[in-house]
Amino acid sequence: MRTNQPKTIYLSEYRVPAYLVDSVDLTFELFEEGARVHSVLSVRRNPDSDAGPAPLELDGDSLKLESLALDGKTLDEGAFEDLGDRLVIPGVPETFELTVVTWIEPQNNTRLEGLYKSSGMFCTQCEAEGFRCITYFPDRPDVMSRFRTRIEAEKSAYPVLLSNGNDVDRGDLADGRHFVTWEDPFPKPCYLFALVAGDLVEKRDSFTTCSGREIDLRMYVEPRNAEKCDHAMDSLKRSMRWDEDVYGREYDLDIFMIVAVDDFNMGAMENKGLNIFNSSCVLASQETATDMAFQRIEAIVAHEYFHNWSGNRVTCRDWFQLSLKEGFTVFRDASFSADTGSPTVKRIEDVTLLRTAQFAEDAGPMSHPVRPSSYMEISNFYTLTIYEKGAEVVRMIHSLLGPDMFRKGSDLYFERHDGQAVTTDDFVRAMEDASGRDLSQFRLWYEQAGTPVLDVSDEFDASAGIYRLTIRQSIPDTPGQSNKQPQHIPFAMGLLGAQGQALPLRLRSGDTDAPLERVLELTDAEHTFEFHGLDERPVPSLLRHFSAPVRVSYPWTREQLQFLMSHDPDGFNRWDAGQRLAVDVIQGLVGNPDEDAIDSRLVDAYRQLISDSSLDQALVAKMLQLPSEAYLIELSEAADAPAIHAARERVLKRLATALRDELVACYNRNHQSGPYRVTPEQIAGRSLRNTALSWLLLINDDEGRELASQQFRAADNMTDRMGALRALVNSDYEADRERVLSEFYERFRHDPQVVEQWFSVQAASGQAGRLPQIRALLEHEAFDWKNPNKVRSVIGAFAGQNLAEFHKPDGSGYEFLAEQVCRLDDSNPQIAARLVTPLTRWRKFAPSYGEQMKAGLEKVRDKAGLSRDVYEVVHKSLA
Ligand code: PHE
Ligand code: ZN
Repeated sequence: MRTNQPKTIYLSEYRVPAYLVDSVDLTFELFEEGARVHSVLSVRRNPDSDAGPAPLELDGDSLKLESLALDGKTLDEGAFEDLGDRLVIPGVPETFELTVVTWIEPQNNTRLEGLYKSSGMFCTQCEAEGFRCITYFPDRPDVMSRFRTRIEAEKSAYPVLLSNGNDVDRGDLADGRHFVTWEDPFPKPCYLFALVAGDLVEKRDSFTTCSGREIDLRMYVEPRNAEKCDHAMDSLKRSMRWDEDVYGREYDLDIFMIVAVDDFNMGAMENKGLNIFNSSCVLASQETATDMAFQRIEAIVAHEYFHNWSGNRVTCRDWFQLSLKEGFTVFRDASFSADTGSPTVKRIEDVTLLRTAQFAEDAGPMSHPVRPSSYMEISNFYTLTIYEKGAEVVRMIHSLLGPDMFRKGSDLYFERHDGQAVTTDDFVRAMEDASGRDLSQFRLWYEQAGTPVLDVSDEFDASAGIYRLTIRQSIPDTPGQSNKQPQHIPFAMGLLGAQGQALPLRLRSGDTDAPLERVLELTDAEHTFEFHGLDERPVPSLLRHFSAPVRVSYPWTREQLQFLMSHDPDGFNRWDAGQRLAVDVIQGLVGNPDEDAIDSRLVDAYRQLISDSSLDQALVAKMLQLPSEAYLIELSEAADAPAIHAARERVLKRLATALRDELVACYNRNHQSGPYRVTPEQIAGRSLRNTALSWLLLINDDEGRELASQQFRAADNMTDRMGALRALVNSDYEADRERVLSEFYERFRHDPQVVEQWFSVQAASGQAGRLPQIRALLEHEAFDWKNPNKVRSVIGAFAGQNLAEFHKPDGSGYEFLAEQVCRLDDSNPQIAARLVTPLTRWRKFAPSYGEQMKAGLEKVRDKAGLSRDVYEVVHKSLA
């Protein structure tokens, strides 16, 4: 907590560490009143540092130092300096042993960084800078050490004691206490350290690696969750096999452990050999988790597992390089999910997130490059830009090099840098060295922030049979960056003839075996491409599979979009054409409250989607989702959220009214018999059914209402139960809404993951999530300010999804959010800094909204003792 201005850290000021720590010997004495941490460090001067015999500096945060000794001799107060966030010890020898004893209070740790307690168990979170909340240490990822960890605790309350690596010793102690000692043979940065102590049940399985080693797989969960582990375990085994098959990466330790904890700031953490998960990102059963949750769990389990190579074996030199591990690992988990389910659907989901949220971030006050050059609080940089745009950058390398060269590149990267802490530049260099390609211009993707804009225009020369495509790129200014250079952009495209046939793309006349799809490489501010041998003006299909994270503007007509929706051979672009058409129709209604009719093209297109069961149903299910309000806001200037909400709602209602019978038929056709499975086909069926239901309820259809009530009662899985609940909650049937909400709660009140879903359906609903109702949820018996999931499921869902309520013209939504951010800032600054995000977008909105949002930010800015986390976000947003 601080009131003065936090320091800015610059990449340009990076220096290699003056001292290295070869090994760390930790002993944790865990008690109810606190924990004593003994740490013995083998320290040596870094031969690569030119700092000479500099003082040793150790980071520390909220620690009580009990004693400090150098080579066994106690250092008294005059022998070192305590600067609050650092200990400075002058005059240390070239090599020495340092013993540090600290006292910490995990039971009072509400920030959830370092060692803390969650539902009675001890657990840690050290990334990025949590280890310094445990003991004094050079807390930076380029200091890699071998860890040995002894944990002592009362045996009956904490029978399970875990840390990284292998358990090498265990035994009983006096007073009903016991200990376990763990040894991790792989040197690692301290952010990968983990400890867990609790009364947990163990689920075991095993995996035989490609070289025939048998790995012990263990999941640890609270006893009530014992039946919710199968999906994660199965996902883990498939991830392990996939990483062997696709990247040639074998697991390295003998044990791999996963622990579920309820209180967790993020999704999950890749600690070496001991991944710790937010319960909501790992526990699932048919009755309690939706299809979306099943898929998210699979992706996150894979993500954390893949980090063992992309993150742990090869780690980051400093936190500016965060995307080195995150961008690459997101790319890896996305490829895994694509291989497991429907690749087109996976791509649509990822692009939706990117275009809605990452583009907004890139256009907002916190915009930063994939490799930032400065920060105040690193926790604020676990962003969509680092993760999702970072993954897009790796994806572009993949598409420029092709799969074989990319694999050669990743092999070289892992081999060359195994056991090292490296930079994004090292990654790109390995790709260059393996492939022989020059990626120097491509590196700008890491250095320049902002989303490139491609302005595309075309002309057709009928007499010559030549179609010319001109593409101009520009990159908007972002905080601290202007006049940017053109980037290297892979631009996949095709051309369609009037019958919908794919046309050969002849860049020279007479080219006989021209391909039907090309990846054009854009490197200049402007390019013109000529396509020969065409007898008619083609319809262009641009940026197929979203081959680069850019905005494309081209003057499509609605006819062309409708045509692409049914003919583009690229499934992604079919979907995209549908989105563009819907956006166009909705935008035409915004601020036009009297306009009631909608373009019949949209109705016809949707009718065909709903009725034609020969189409890929997984794609259809996606195509039926209208662009979200958040995306529509992202696309507009001087946005009026309530007006956008109303226009979108009107389109939905018009569609539902026009297609009422088709919706009922679609609902009935997608009735599932047989056991519940999480397959693309079944997921699509449930999604279609629930979309049909929600549309029918929007128009107060009595049959729809009956179907929803029936489905709510009879559902054998959470996707259907939740689909019915959501449809009823968002309907005008108030009595049904109250009834199903309370029935649902009574049924699941003992399951925190389900209660979180119950909170968020209400908080995200225009019907059940008005401000007084939101305030009531905060008073609900199941709400818990100390649990980030609960906070997100009420406050986050309200401000992020219930946009018409949040952006109430009287500003009450903004005031509410500001108030909650201030409240949370004292207990959990990381969560507070994330929650404030919607207000930071104030420049995006019409002044009557924007000014009030800004006032909310100013209120937060003026709070006494503002955390560094919130300080950075708020000040940058107001600058
Ligand atoms: N490194 C984690 C991941 O992406 C995310 C995380 C960051 C978790 C910081 C906790 C704290 O897999
Ligand atoms: Zn990650």
